[in-house]
Formats: sequence, structure tokens, C-alpha cells
Amino acid sequence: MPSSPSPAVTRRRVLASGAGVAGACLLAACTEQRPTPQGESGALGSLEPGTRVVALAEVPVGGAVAASLDGHDVLVTQPAVGEVHLFSAICTHAGCTVQPGAGELDCPCHGSRFALADAAVLGGPASEPLPEVPVEVRGADVVLA
Ligand code: FES
Repeated sequence: MPSSPSPAVTRRRVLASGAGVAGACLLAACTEQRPTPQGESGALGSLEPGTRVVALAEVPVGGAVAASLDGHDVLVTQPAVGEVHLFSAICTHAGCTVQPGAGELDCPCHGSRFALADAAVLGGPASEPLPEVPVEVRGADVVLA
């Protein structure tokens, strides 16, 4: 008569396969939420040059302001007086909306941090900077270049 597996082995196998399924689901979910930052900046880049984004006075020096541009979440930064940048606010880690922080840009989901001047990663888990779209100051406004 064949011996049946011990209850401990059976439970271990069940837990292991369950963990595998859970891990696969987490990976699948993570993949599904993966952002398309190039797509974001590409869509933003197709907007008409000269399109007004925000008033320069709304962008704090040494800080940033969140804005919406043609339905896309963006961040306008001013690291130094008159130096403005526009970045997609879609986090390059998993697609959350990055927010203005204290002298940097912060992702509320997993804590990634980005620099005001070039959106370089200051702290992960993101490994890529936020995509930039060229802007310029025209009169009192920040507009697409
Ligand atoms: S989505 Fe994970 S750090 Fe931004």
C-alpha cells in the first residue's frame, strides 16, 4: 500500500503554490499598472507650441506646482528664478501621480523622489526620471516651447 504524503509536506506544497500564484498576480498587477512615460511626454509634445500651461507667478521659486495640460497631469518647476521646467507627473515606477514636495517632487505611493531641475531620481524605487516637455516663459506665462 503506497504511503500518503505527510500533512506537513502537503501543507507546505499548498502554501508554496499559493505564494507562487500570489506572486504572479502581484507581478501581473504591477505590469498592468506600468506607466508609459514616453507615451505621456509624446502626447504632451504633440500639443501646440505656445500653449499656456500656468502663470509664472503660480510656480514657487525652489518648488513646483501641479497642473493639468490637455487632460495630462504635469508638474511645472522653478528651481531658480525664471528657470522653468515641465515634467509628466506620472511616476516612472508604477504610474502614480507625483506631487510637488519640499524642494523636490515626491511620489505618494512608494516614496520615489525627483529633482526640480531635471526630474532625476533622488530616491527610488523609481529608476528613471520623469519625462520632460520643453517650456519657456512668455510674458507672465509658462508656455510650451
Ligand atoms: S508609483 Fe511607486 S514610487 Fe511612484
